[in-house]
Amino acid sequence: MKQIIGGNWKMNGSRLIALEFLSEMKRLGSGSVSSEIILFPPFTLIPLMTDAAADAGIETGGQDLFWLEKGAFTGEISPAMLADAGATWFLAGHSERRHVFGETDEVVRKKLEAGLETGLRGILCVGELIDEREAGRTEEVVKRQVEFALKDQKCVSPENFVIAYEPVWAIGTGLTATPDEAERMHSLIREWVAGIMSNDFADNTRIQYGGSVKPDNAAEILSRPSVNGALVGGASLKAGSFMDILRAVPLRK
Ligand code: 13P
Repeated sequence: MKQIIGGNWKMNGSRLIALEFLSEMKRLGSGSVSSEIILFPPFTLIPLMTDAAADAGIETGGQDLFWLEKGAFTGEISPAMLADAGATWFLAGHSERRHVFGETDEVVRKKLEAGLETGLRGILCVGELIDEREAGRTEEVVKRQVEFALKDQKCVSPENFVIAYEPVWAIGTGLTATPDEAERMHSLIREWVAGIMSNDFADNTRIQYGGSVKPDNAAEILSRPSVNGALVGGASLKAGSFMDILRAVPLRK
């Protein structure tokens, strides 16, 4: 199964930064790595980055989307608009959308459904808050997020769907789940996916780890058998560190 490495730029970047980043990625050999590479820049940079990234082996995605096709929804971007801009992927339910902007499981589900129906491929982000972790509720919370998003989804398949397990306390903090903890949660998520969909679906679904993935911890996390990639925030903003993470992907997967 090909590993999938995403770079989530969040609210960072500019046209100049994007072009410099992509030319540096190409110079460093992004076109010849073994993993699938997806960049999630701010919406405004998607057309530029899609064009400039095509020959660097990189696809682009939206960090979010709205579930309706068009209409009076000031500030929103529809799945078709993302596709029209050149994106082939989207994120649904990133922890900042859930916890800074109050997105519920129901909203995340609708976004996932709408994006997949439009033909985009989606990464469902799940993960527990520190309070939930300390209260021993990690499994309950992540299971609920996975089940709510996936149950009875019609257009979903292992080809158009990826899960990113991102413990919220590890995002942007320099803290990471230990490789053992990540492996344990990924195995549980795979079991839950098997229960909702099928064993075959779960076996073929890629599960990324996210939360302070850096060049110096990537190899250890990415070598775990249940970890099929990473969703990288801060370290994806510099071509050098992002390429170091891509190079840390073990060849056997
Ligand atoms: P950091 O890598 O900056 O912790 O961010 C992770 C993340 O939120 C990726 O979506």
